[in-house]
Amino acid sequence: MDAAETLRLIKTRRSVRRYDGRPVPTHLVWELLEAAHWAPSAHNRQPWRFAVLMDVERRRALAEAMGAHFRRDLLAAGVPEEEAERQVARSVARIVDAPAVIVVFLSMADMDQYADAKHRALERTMAVQSVALAVQNILLLAHAHGLGACWMCAPLFCPEVVRETLEVPADWEAQALVTLGYPAEVRTRERDSLADRVRWYE
Ligand SMILES: Cc1cc2nc3c(=O)[nH]c(=O)nc-3n(C[C@H](O)[C@H](O)[C@H](O)COP(=O)(O)O)c2cc1C
Repeated sequence: MDAAETLRLIKTRRSVRRYDGRPVPTHLVWELLEAAHWAPSAHNRQPWRFAVLMDVERRRALAEAMGAHFRRDLLAAGVPEEEAERQVARSVARIVDAPAVIVVFLSMADMDQYADAKHRALERTMAVQSVALAVQNILLLAHAHGLGACWMCAPLFCPEVVRETLEVPADWEAQALVTLGYPAEVRTRERDSLADRVRWYE
């Protein structure tokens, strides 16, 4: 494997939020899931679970259910109704308009079980970290295939809504979703100083 090419892939990936409408081939979505599944995970327990939404009506059902929850949250926080509607519509459109969506879940079913709260919380953190690595594999391989992708955290705010809408098992806890499609925008997010974020001890 060419290290320079790998670094270039990592550095040129950007969150792409607008797509040109071309469908994402099924075999590519499976390949993305395979990449996710080969991520490292705590104790190799593979706590990730995925729901793939290729059908627009299924994406709409999820987006609208989450949107209703989002609207309630915004109004409860005092956001004016018009602004709340604008934000909800934007969120719904992003999910509906993406040709494919992968909803990412965490399951604690195979993780170690602890009686005490501290170890339970740490085990959960390890599961969350593992799931995040799986998503990064999706984002990078999508980019390598010329696909755009974006992590959306919306499901994290309403895991019960996601579970009920998609009828997934009770232990599947929604963490995020990834929108996928062929890019209709070029993104150029930069990074702040690396040196400011490193303490290097010889
Ligand atoms: C945990 C996490 C949550 C994110 N949630 C959202 C989101 O809800 N909506 C969104 O548009 N982008 C979201 N993003 C994408 C980030 O905004 C993006 O990665 C960041 O701005 C850097 O830009 P880049 O990915 O183009 O380099 C999220 C990324 C991460 C890792």
